[in-house]
Amino acid sequence: MQRVLPLLADPPAAPTAPRGYLDQLGSAVQDVNTGMVQALWSSRIGASLFDHAATAARRVFGILQSPTGHLHLQPGHTALDIGCGPGEITAALARTVGPTGLALGIDISESMLTRAAHRHRADNIAFLRADAQRLPLRDNTVDAVTCIAGLQLIPDPIAAMAEMIRVLRPGGYLAVLVPTVRTGPIGRFLPDAGGARLFTATEIADTVKGFGLREVGTRRFGMIQWTYGHKIRAQQ
Ligand SMILES: C[S@@+](CC[C@H](N)C(=O)[O-])C[C@H]1O[C@@H](n2cnc3c(N)ncnc32)[C@H](O)[C@@H]1O
Repeated sequence: MQRVLPLLADPPAAPTAPRGYLDQLGSAVQDVNTGMVQALWSSRIGASLFDHAATAARRVFGILQSPTGHLHLQPGHTALDIGCGPGEITAALARTVGPTGLALGIDISESMLTRAAHRHRADNIAFLRADAQRLPLRDNTVDAVTCIAGLQLIPDPIAAMAEMIRVLRPGGYLAVLVPTVRTGPIGRFLPDAGGARLFTATEIADTVKGFGLREVGTRRFGMIQWTYGHKIRAQQ
């Protein structure tokens, strides 16, 4: 936790982490998703179900695995995992940045964070409870940001992307995975199912380009889409 404090805009004077993660949100939860899917991810049983299902799915589907290569991570880097859930990707990032680096997982779900902090304990991994729409981090502090299957649950995904890019250092890389709408009948019926929205094929790429990212590219498998980008310079 001591390694996280220098990244925070307003670090607590007496930080504690009784459940293994630092809580920067407390009861000040506002404007977050109140749909069925997020309610499930906020419950202990939902966090457990997701953890097992995601681990199994990642063994089968390469597209769901950690975007480590696209993030250009080096030993000693700081990597941020937004909507980290049970922390499997955060742990993969921690292995890449090594003992001198830091992987920080952020989520709003106490159940997910409790599970993540319990399962993944190492000096170079930390978990923080915070809202992706208002990251409590200083500008230009991390070398890479990823957000895997989290943006569709965030009421203001554009604000969340702006925050991810704000905290990314010039030279850093972003990798975001979202569910997207297929053209045809599936796309017409699925949007907003259970409070989880679907994006169009160009929405994320257009947004991050609008925030100044360069080398923006996408990769798609069925309804799952990755968007990658590179922050060249600090924002004005
Ligand atoms: C489908 S899970 C994905 C977990 C993880 N990225 C993975 O791939 O294993 C989505 C996560 O986003 C989190 N989330 C939803 N809204 C959030 C917000 N406003 N800020 C931070 N995390 C949020 C949920 O609590 C949930 O743990």
